[in-house]
Amino acid sequence: MCSSGVEKIELRGKLIVFEGLDFTGKSTQVEILAKRLREAGLPVTTTREPGGTKLGETVRKVILSKEHMELLPLSELSLFITCRAQLSAEVIEPALAAEHVVVSSRYRLSSLAYQGYGRGLDLRLIQQLNEIATSGRQADVTFLLDLCAEKALERRGEERDRIEQEDLAFYRRVRTGYLDLTGEDPSVHILDATAPIDEIAREVLRLVGLQSLGIGDDGV
Ligand code: TYD
Repeated sequence: MCSSGVEKIELRGKLIVFEGLDFTGKSTQVEILAKRLREAGLPVTTTREPGGTKLGETVRKVILSKEHMELLPLSELSLFITCRAQLSAEVIEPALAAEHVVVSSRYRLSSLAYQGYGRGLDLRLIQQLNEIATSGRQADVTFLLDLCAEKALERRGEERDRIEQEDLAFYRRVRTGYLDLTGEDPSVHILDATAPIDEIAREVLRLVGLQSLGIGDDGV
């Protein structure tokens, strides 16, 4: 591998986040990027939301279970915030302090898009809770895997969790939210999620300055 030392130093201690609707391939891209970064000799921590901690994984089950259709939007938000606070304190901050590159599937933007635009909760309230839950930590780079709601739902299987069974109008609001919230932000790169996996992965590597690493024939 032929990554320069300068590139390595720039990425250490940075938080890289993948965002987007369900079914946009976030976890695949997290995996590919983490593998390439590790091959370049960088210490990497991967995370996901909701989850990534013992409590977070338990709360994830509650959030996604169809046994809890009674969850109010505010209750839903507070559960996501609980997961985020635990993940931030237990995983993200210690990893960044140890100079790891942290790569996460979802972070603060998810709550603004899903609970703000999707459920109609107050964006300022979500922003405040996000600030508190993350001690003010913003992602250094965000990749928004953009897909229209129709295409996202075409990828949906028969097995659906509580949120995945929402209707087209909900997914449209969430997608609009993502685009509204990120349009002006230079730290966000919007990528076309209809592109092949290896093409997206190559673009991600280019945008983090590691294009020299390339993507294998297996796409990973
Ligand atoms: P995710 O783990 O990305 O779903 P999957 O593993 O099935 O691809 O996220 C679970 C669901 O939680 C997803 O529908 C998006 C939703 N979500 C919110 O509504 N708000 C949030 O703040 C987060 C982090 C996720």
